[in-house]
Amino acid sequence: MLPKTIEWKENKVFILDQRRLPEEENYLECHDAFTVAEAIKTLAIRGAPAIGIAAAMGIALGALGIDKRDFHSFYGELLSICDTLKQTRPTAINLRWALKRMREVCEANKGMDVGVIKECLIQEAIAILEEDVEINKKIGEMGKDLIRNGDTILTHCNTGALATGGYGTALGVVRRAWEERKGIKVVATETRPLFQGSRLTTWELKQEGIPVSLITDHMAGYLMQKEEIDLVMVGADRIARNGDVANKIGTYTLAVLAREHGIPFYVAAPLSTFDPTIKTGEEIPIEERGEEEITTPWGKRIAPEDVGVRNPAFDITPHRYVMAIVTEKGVIRPPFEEGVRRLWGEANG
Ligand code: MRU
Repeated sequence: MLPKTIEWKENKVFILDQRRLPEEENYLECHDAFTVAEAIKTLAIRGAPAIGIAAAMGIALGALGIDKRDFHSFYGELLSICDTLKQTRPTAINLRWALKRMREVCEANKGMDVGVIKECLIQEAIAILEEDVEINKKIGEMGKDLIRNGDTILTHCNTGALATGGYGTALGVVRRAWEERKGIKVVATETRPLFQGSRLTTWELKQEGIPVSLITDHMAGYLMQKEEIDLVMVGADRIARNGDVANKIGTYTLAVLAREHGIPFYVAAPLSTFDPTIKTGEEIPIEERGEEEITTPWGKRIAPEDVGVRNPAFDITPHRYVMAIVTEKGVIRPPFEEGVRRLWGEANG
């Protein structure tokens, strides 16, 4: 069984430190919101749904540490903790979505004793985690028929149990197809520069017994040309109203290659990954990370000291490359705008 990605236990948050996987299964014990914020920022926990859960638990921890007894002072401090957590990673909307949900719990209980509000916040954070696992299982169910017996699926980054509360989104669909005894194989890209594919995806799949081959990112085109890939299935960090998808850097390249080779390109994501406030992917903020991730992998310098570096962590795949988006409430097909509006509306009342 896969270890838990994140857990609330005895008023502490335990985060499986993904920076050390697969060599070590080590848990960070977080006593305050700032340690959780640091864990998100440094990718000890990563993947859009997982950082949403971590942010919610960070708020619950932060609330426990506030000693104010009147609502206004308490809420003022909580909003500043929200702000700290919001600054950690800009692209995945799930983080903002979870923070909004936590703020709403606070506001809805305004008249209550601060002690009661703290308990409500803890329960809400745990609910966000538990709901996420259920949502992922539904995504798996909705998407499983996109995978046929014998298919080889190319996936990018890590979208499995580690990137979520459990089970996974794109990898959840793969997992569900495997549970149905479809004879499938996975090709996982290593996913530079932080190697979520080679370190995390292959590790997860091996534990489940799902056949997986690891490739470097730029080998994908060759395998497609050789007809060794039947479909591409990836996750998302934010989806615009028109269906444009922000996901791990390199996703766009795979989508263009898939189109060139007539290979279906699918995205699997919970409805909390959709951003109804933005029309197209151009409005999605793309996180730029530190240059040392590229110049100094594993602590070893591999580039000249003064070289210029770009390190965008995500890219935007225009909706015209996406054949379908699998959500917990159904599969959305182009044109996406209408389906996105309907399913997002259903999920959010
Ligand atoms: O930088 P990361 O590791 O947080 O990026 C993760 C991804 O891009 C995933 O594909 C995405 O969050 C979907 S996870 C279910």
